[in-house]
Amino acid sequence: MLEVYDLYSGYGKIEVLHGVFLRVSHREIVCIIGPNGSGKSTLLKSIFGLIKPYRGKIQFMGLEISQKDPEEKVALGISYIPQGRNIFPSLSVLENLEMGATPLRDPLKMKKAIQEIFDHYPLLEKKKRLKAGSLSGGEKQILALARTSMIKPELILLDEPSLGLAPKVVDQIYREIDLINHQGVTFLIVEQNARKALRLAHRAYVLDLGVNRLEDTGEGLLQNEEVKRLYLGG
Ligand SMILES: Nc1ncnc2c1ncn2[C@@H]1O[C@H](COP(=O)(O)OP(=O)(O)OP(=O)(O)O)[C@@H](O)[C@H]1O
Ligand SMILES: [Mg+2]
Repeated sequence: MLEVYDLYSGYGKIEVLHGVFLRVSHREIVCIIGPNGSGKSTLLKSIFGLIKPYRGKIQFMGLEISQKDPEEKVALGISYIPQGRNIFPSLSVLENLEMGATPLRDPLKMKKAIQEIFDHYPLLEKKKRLKAGSLSGGEKQILALARTSMIKPELILLDEPSLGLAPKVVDQIYREIDLINHQGVTFLIVEQNARKALRLAHRAYVLDLGVNRLEDTGEGLLQNEEVKRLYLGG
């Protein structure tokens, strides 16, 4: 579904990615782990088109997309949830969902999609009139996931979904990711706190200093002594 080939990217003169390779198959959950500043967020931003790669290829369903804008990528079925959630804090929970549903166009379809979200997450319905900014960190992440998955994208690029959340809440977020994946959505997830992500991921990559160092199944990286020592905190 997604293939990144020898990708160079960064910010003006600051090159951050120095030749990254990765692939994500249909219905996979693929995880990228790596230390702070290794270029994980830069990689997702480059794939989504928020920054334009210097060179290299990005193919999505056979189409070369490395120089396309985010709007075009959304139209192709790619969604992106940035580090720090993708919600509008000053809008209500309901307004956030309505904005997420706008690509569905038909008001009836939008209403139905929002009702499905509320049926699945009664807590969001209870708080639908509250400002999204007043939700807890975990609730915000659930709202971001709900908002993104309601338009049924092909691929969700997800940056640090567990950042700043208590372990129990992280478990809940990962259960939701698993569920959305079972509905047919493919995930590319970036995580610094990697154990839970690796447990769920079908495959995973280690990104360090702007190049990918290792690639294995999630379980394989979890068992790898070097990975444990260098990237998983012993
Ligand atoms: N907007 C920017 N302008 C210039 N340099 C940037 C910008 N954003 C990030 N960088 C630099 O790019 C490098 C990689 O940053 P990036 O955010 O991709 O790392 P990361 O792996 O996501 O780290 P973290 O785990 O802390 O989120 C860092 O050295 C950072 O300082
Ligand atoms: Mg980051």
